[in-house]
Amino acid sequence: MNTSKKYILAIESSCDDTAAAILCNSTVLSNIVANQEIHQQYGGVVPELASRAHQQNIVPVVHQALAKANIGKNELSAIAFTRGPGLLGSLLVGTSFAKSLALGLGIPLIEVNHMQAHILAHFIKEEDKTVPNFPFLALTISGGHTQIVQVNDHFDMEILGESLDDAVGEAFDKSAKLLGLPYPGGPLIDKYAQKGNPKAFEFPKPKVEHLNFSFSGLKTSILYFIQRKTKENPDFVQEHLNDICASIQETIVTILMDKLKKASKITGIKEIAIGGGVSANSEIRKRIRDMEQALGWKTYIPKFEYCTDNAAMIGIVGYLKYLKGDFARQEVSAKARYIL
Ligand code: KG4
Ligand code: ZN
Repeated sequence: MNTSKKYILAIESSCDDTAAAILCNSTVLSNIVANQEIHQQYGGVVPELASRAHQQNIVPVVHQALAKANIGKNELSAIAFTRGPGLLGSLLVGTSFAKSLALGLGIPLIEVNHMQAHILAHFIKEEDKTVPNFPFLALTISGGHTQIVQVNDHFDMEILGESLDDAVGEAFDKSAKLLGLPYPGGPLIDKYAQKGNPKAFEFPKPKVEHLNFSFSGLKTSILYFIQRKTKENPDFVQEHLNDICASIQETIVTILMDKLKKASKITGIKEIAIGGGVSANSEIRKRIRDMEQALGWKTYIPKFEYCTDNAAMIGIVGYLKYLKGDFARQEVSAKARYIL
């Protein structure tokens, strides 16, 4: 075996996806995700069901990742796992599994912060892809977080702004729920919005200080809007679904873009990277790209499979920490609140 090649097994179980990946240095050999459909019928993630599903999924998912990469357990150099932030019961499954396997194989254990991983996913090696230059700004938008982070180095990050209440993914999902769409509704809003008029309806944009965000008011204003309109016409939502989705999306994306532009102006940084599940949104991708021409930004958008929750992003952090010899002890425990 070529010893300059390091094989990292990465495990992600912070929310409702059970994921495992194998990386050879910074190249992804396999990236397996088992989604948990059980939550759809409840309109949101049910923590207890999520941890039980992780228990069922974790062994098959890891086996699949090893098989697809054509790697045997004994060839692994280290095991990286998501320590937090996330749902404690979910995190415990991945953490316990990673600890036991690393102990059994006698190889190092590496703990990873999920939010840091969404950002460092940009360093996964891919053909024809350049990586962001330091310092860059990262907009991390997911179902659990909304942050603008200044990234000075791989492990030197500073949060410039974040949501004071709901995360942007929650704003998408809760709005979708009000429209009667199944969970998670973010991708559906994106889909219907493509056929709608973004100016059809106007929703208020909150005034939040500095580079912070707030999305809870938007949900309330959408609720009142729908109640008012369906009183006049019970079929209002069905008849105007595309326009409502386009208008909601327009509001959310404008809120994000305004703050991102402000952050770029304040810091003078024009290297802009986005990550997290919501960066799969087609309108946000388009608006970010448009800023290359308009404001001279250089933008970085990960491949779709590295945007939503995945283990490849845990693996790249694992590899970067491996190079530094930054290993976790067997006493390490899951951490539901884990600040960047
Ligand atoms: O990063 P992620 O997979 O999980 C968390 O760490 O939260 O993000 C999931 C979130 C969900 O709220 C989902 O609705 C949202 O990302 N999402 C989208 C789109 N694809 C996923 N929101 C808007 N448009 C999309 N295309
Ligand atoms: Zn995430």
